[in-house]
Amino acid sequence: MTGTAAARARGLEFWTQAAPGWIRHADHQDEFGRPLGAAAMTWLRPAPGERVLDVGCGVGGTTAELAARVAPGGEAVGIDLAQPMVDAARTRFATVANLRFEVCDIEMVDAVPGAPFDAVFSRMALMLPADPVAGCAGILRCLRPGGRLAATVFRDSAANPWLAAALLGAAAHVGPLPALPVGDDPGPFAFADAARPLRILATAGFEQISVQARDVTLPAPEDPAAVAESLIEVGPAGAAYRAASADERARARRGAARLLERFREPGTGYRFPAGIWLITATRPISSAAGDI
Ligand SMILES: C[S@@+](CC[C@H](N)C(=O)[O-])C[C@H]1O[C@@H](n2cnc3c(N)ncnc32)[C@H](O)[C@@H]1O
Repeated sequence: MTGTAAARARGLEFWTQAAPGWIRHADHQDEFGRPLGAAAMTWLRPAPGERVLDVGCGVGGTTAELAARVAPGGEAVGIDLAQPMVDAARTRFATVANLRFEVCDIEMVDAVPGAPFDAVFSRMALMLPADPVAGCAGILRCLRPGGRLAATVFRDSAANPWLAAALLGAAAHVGPLPALPVGDDPGPFAFADAARPLRILATAGFEQISVQARDVTLPAPEDPAAVAESLIEVGPAGAAYRAASADERARARRGAARLLERFREPGTGYRFPAGIWLITATRPISSAAGDI
């Protein structure tokens, strides 16, 4: 297996195992994650009648928001690698008419029926394909000429210290974790260096590419055990946490809560600082990429 093929297999396994945590905390994640995608949603300005694609949509909260913004007359399509995420998204939003979810790797996104799209949105997923140039080239091909892309991704670990805190606090109390990404491996910090997404999007054929830093705050209620559990379950320790005994899980929650304590404001709740890139780009009006 090539390095890229192995990374693809790891990604599929990781996100399929992570899905139960995302599904269990779906409503919480919709609220908790909102500030992470707000800048992309604002820049994109999805308008009634438009066709929009949500790349790496998870359990579908942002796709549903896109569907509301493009109604009437428009459609939102969410794609995700993990079948359980897509199944959950379909169930959660079964009554929304102008919304569709498909299982699809970002690298194969131009195979999704419904192209061309006016706009592509992505929250915390653009850095995850095994071959990000192939992923971004596929996104370009499924946009109409002049179509726009807006995505947010994490900057580096230091700008998002709560991610490591939840993992480190839990890790000692549960079974083995999946291998953590190294260097440019797909993972939360694969686009930490802004030069990388700039280079990738340019190679894929985008123009008017911009990568801007944004600092946001993620609020959570003052419930240490619940906050620790949700952050553990959507992270790399999630599968090991679910497989652990009740006693191990309680210790993992306490361990994570201890390291998350610095982000708790007594009487107010948690306020997690998040450092992200807002990545925006457009497909050239005339480009060499084959239309679909
Ligand atoms: C960090 S989660 C973000 C989910 C959602 N966008 C949100 O903000 O709540 C990343 C999502 O991307 C999906 N994903 C990872 N690699 C992918 C790939 N190569 N193609 C499509 N989706 C992928 C995962 O299954 C997961 O649902």
